[in-house]
Amino acid sequence: MASGRHVTLLLLMLGYAGWASGGCREAQLSRDCEALCSFDQHGQVTSCELRAAVLLVNNSKYEISLMKVMPVLDLAVAKARSMGLLPYWLKLTFFPQDDGCDATYAQIGAIDSYSSCVHVFFGPACDYCVASVGRITKFLNAPLITTGGFTYDFTEKKVTCADEYFMTVRMGALSFRDIAFVFIDQMKRNRWKKMHLLYDTNGQNVVAGRHTCQLMMKSMVQFVKKEAIDYGTFDVDSVHVKDYPEVLRDHIGNVYSGQ
Ligand SMILES: *[C@@H]1O[C@H](CO)[C@@H](O)[C@H](O)[C@H]1NC(C)=O
Repeated sequence: MASGRHVTLLLLMLGYAGWASGGCREAQLSRDCEALCSFDQHGQVTSCELRAAVLLVNNSKYEISLMKVMPVLDLAVAKARSMGLLPYWLKLTFFPQDDGCDATYAQIGAIDSYSSCVHVFFGPACDYCVASVGRITKFLNAPLITTGGFTYDFTEKKVTCADEYFMTVRMGALSFRDIAFVFIDQMKRNRWKKMHLLYDTNGQNVVAGRHTCQLMMKSMVQFVKKEAIDYGTFDVDSVHVKDYPEVLRDHIGNVYSGQ
């Protein structure tokens, strides 16, 4: 199952590499290494290489990190080769870059990889990094393929240059939008009309980096707003765990509790 997925990813990548031309702006950065294959003076192919940047955090505390992903990519390549899906003449090279799960480093990492002539970006996984790299890849004309990008902005339409994250492909199975839909469905099923969102801004930061829970709540609010549901929010960031019972009494109390 898992390997099926990696193979899909490789195929996607190959598909893109063939398609990449044009891009979202007139002026192209000069780069003489776009082509997959190099030729000798007689026009004979000498070698073909697909280069992929892997932009991830180099810290195994995160769910998705270079340490965990690089070996998996190697396995995926071996599997795709053994299944005959990757042409034997095509070399696949990965350029790992540590983005520190930080938007600025991710962007610089993307630019550095671009100057190493990459055709495609894998990652980043942290949401703010996907945002900063996703906004520039459409101008670099190289697709960004990520299993991250959970906030609802990334689930919006991405089919033309005018779309913010055009050239970003989400491979993940779940986004914050889907989690919001699960809650909203439960609310409807039970005919519940009031919702209070208590969250810790930086909770779960090993999943999508800084503000993971805040971004989850932002996505939640985006969809709850459209329903006939009264909602309130409270960020427990500055509250000590031992004070949670009091916070629950104050914020939920008999405003949000039922009979
Ligand atoms: C990741 O960290 C390891 C160990 O600290 C180091 O050897 C490796 O060069 C780092 N990789 C990158 C791409 O920064």
